[in-house]
Amino acid sequence: MAKSYPNVSEKYAALIEKARRKIRGMVAEKNCAPIILRLAWHGSGTYDQESKTGGPLGTIRFGQELAHGANAGLDIAVNLLQPIKEQFPELSYADFYTLAGVVAVEVTGGPTIPFHPGRKDHETCPVEGRLPDATKGLDHLRCVFTKQMGLTDKDIVVLSGAHTLGRCHKDRSGFEGAWTPNPLRFDNSYFQVLLEGEKDGLIMLPSDKALLDEPKTRELVELYAKVCAVFCLVVTWLCRKKSE
Ligand code: HEM
Repeated sequence: MAKSYPNVSEKYAALIEKARRKIRGMVAEKNCAPIILRLAWHGSGTYDQESKTGGPLGTIRFGQELAHGANAGLDIAVNLLQPIKEQFPELSYADFYTLAGVVAVEVTGGPTIPFHPGRKDHETCPVEGRLPDATKGLDHLRCVFTKQMGLTDKDIVVLSGAHTLGRCHKDRSGFEGAWTPNPLRFDNSYFQVLLEGEKDGLIMLPSDKALLDEPKTRELVELYAKVCAVFCLVVTWLCRKKSE
């Protein structure tokens, strides 16, 4: 079934494009793509399919939600984005933060993600405890991603790949270190490093390592570790051919 997205006015769509350019400039200048992506994710990963509450409703702008343990440090991302958001009062926070996440992926070399605006802001924050706990395993990830959000095992593995960007901070999560050698480049190195096992100077959370615990999720990790390697080889080969 084709997905239908909300209709927005031409003026709103034009403002989105303008905001996209400003966010891109700020994220590139401040090298803050990882925390901006984490904001977009934490602002949406609270969705509960049963009660139809939570999700990307812009509520992470409120101190109440930022004070949830899982959101430690995300006030930094909100504050980085706020001066740009103030230039676009017509845009919802919900659209704005999600757009910022899309831009963060693009700026770091990831794919161009189609962005569909039309999210409405809500005033009521979701209850605390809906985001995944990094100290837990696959059963817990399925409780959050599958039971609560309605996603699949494949989604769990793909989405975990976002840890190719950024790092853990002792004072925010209690963990310390980056997952990959280049935390500002969006690629599939997260999956490669995960398969290679513990490495000096890099971190894997228990919830990352849990993806290797069952054949079904492990096979997906193996697939994504290879897919991009093949893609990169093809691109390198094509570039060489062009310059020959
Ligand atoms: C699978 C369940 C997940 C768990 C348990 C988890 C947990 C964590 C933890 C503990 C941190 C470190 C925070 C800090 O100390 O600053 C972190 C960082 C991060 N997470 Fe996740 N995460 C999960 C899924 C995701 C998803 C789905 C995305 C995005 C699609 C994401 C994007 C990020 C990014 C980009 C960072 C780096 C932030 C920075 O460098 O400041 N995570 N995550």
